[in-house]
Amino acid sequence: MTVLVTGGAGFIGANFIFYWLRTHPGDRVVCVDRLTYAGNLSTLTEVLERPEFRFVRADIQDREAMDRLFGEEHPDVVVNFAAESHVDRSIEDPEIFLRTNVMGTAVLLDLCRKYKTSRFHQVSTDEVYGDLPLDRTDLRFTEETPLRASSPYSASKASADLLTLACWRTYGQPVTVSRCSNNYGPFQFPEKLIPLMIANALQDKTLPVYGTGRNVRDWLYVEDHCRAIDVILEKGRLGEVYNIGGDHEMENIALVRRICQELGRPESRIAYVTDRKGHDLRYGIDAGKLRQELGWRPAVSFDEGLRQTIRWYLEHRSWWENIVSGEYRDYYEKMYGGR
Ligand code: NAD
Ligand code: DAU
Repeated sequence: MTVLVTGGAGFIGANFIFYWLRTHPGDRVVCVDRLTYAGNLSTLTEVLERPEFRFVRADIQDREAMDRLFGEEHPDVVVNFAAESHVDRSIEDPEIFLRTNVMGTAVLLDLCRKYKTSRFHQVSTDEVYGDLPLDRTDLRFTEETPLRASSPYSASKASADLLTLACWRTYGQPVTVSRCSNNYGPFQFPEKLIPLMIANALQDKTLPVYGTGRNVRDWLYVEDHCRAIDVILEKGRLGEVYNIGGDHEMENIALVRRICQELGRPESRIAYVTDRKGHDLRYGIDAGKLRQELGWRPAVSFDEGLRQTIRWYLEHRSWWENIVSGEYRDYYEKMYGGR
């Protein structure tokens, strides 16, 4: 089987590629990635030379390039991770989010129809549901919760979900959608909360907490997300949405304090800074459908996952230091210049 993974040089896509090659020997994995600031070819070093793996640098919005790739590879399955993924950047400049996240998904859906791909899986987010109040811990997002996106990022992801589901209804196109809570783990770009706090703490910089720090996120170790997508590809019902969550809600400030403790850094490094515009208060995922229908549940506890993640950032300093210093761009050119 050939699996086309878009956005595989980013955080979750790369972890998915490692996971897939390990758990599905004999399958071919093709990664297409534009290598934006968030895509890092060095992340894929351990698989780049493997014969069952191919990397292609291209933009998912580029219909000609995608058509050529589909024509060459005839993928059985497409898993769409490619996206602009950072909420703060979407607040500064929404347009690229609409282009990649909406139009890019539209191109992939068209080509999946043209080449009769057996499955298109859209990797989406709990952020499409908007947020929950802090004082109603009884409420959680189910697959039936109305879409109520707050940021340009989540609005673009909600649009892509709707388009994917419209293709199921209109063309009977075989699709599935998953909506996951906050991921953490190796290779996450240090603009996101956990790696940013680890990197800043290790560099003795301040730890910027937005607003009151009381906002709540539901954390899931990245490999559990990859396994959930695998289960959905194998046993999920076509045209369905599946929520994926860590069942581990935490206030941001508690998480940042915990990172200080783990790294032996003083909490005096924490600085409360101006809040994110439109900042979602709480995400809480009900993953009951995935658990009951498909038997998935998280395997890695938050304590274990956070320790593994911190250890990974300690042991892979050059990976994130290159990113932080901007040197990673030279690496891309050197590695990929004539490819
Ligand atoms: P990321 O920003 O780390 O990686 C995104 C990747 O997509 C990068 O490698 C980038 O180069 C690539 N890309 C961007 N635009 C592209 C384009 N036009 N064509 C081809 N490639 C392009 O993101 P991530 O955190 O790994 O998230 C992956 C997916 O999972 C996204 O769709 C995101 O919405 C979703 N998601 C993320 C989380 C999370 O906590 N990080 C949670 C739920 C869902
Ligand atoms: O819920 C899934 C989503 O999780 C994904 O769809 C997004 O792609 C992913 O980026 C993430 O979005 P968040 O906005 O929740 O993640 P982020 O790491 O940016 O922020 C997590 C929380 O921490 C949020 O409440 C904002 C806060 N924060 C973030 C940063 C970067 C801070 O307090 N300080 C910071 O410096």
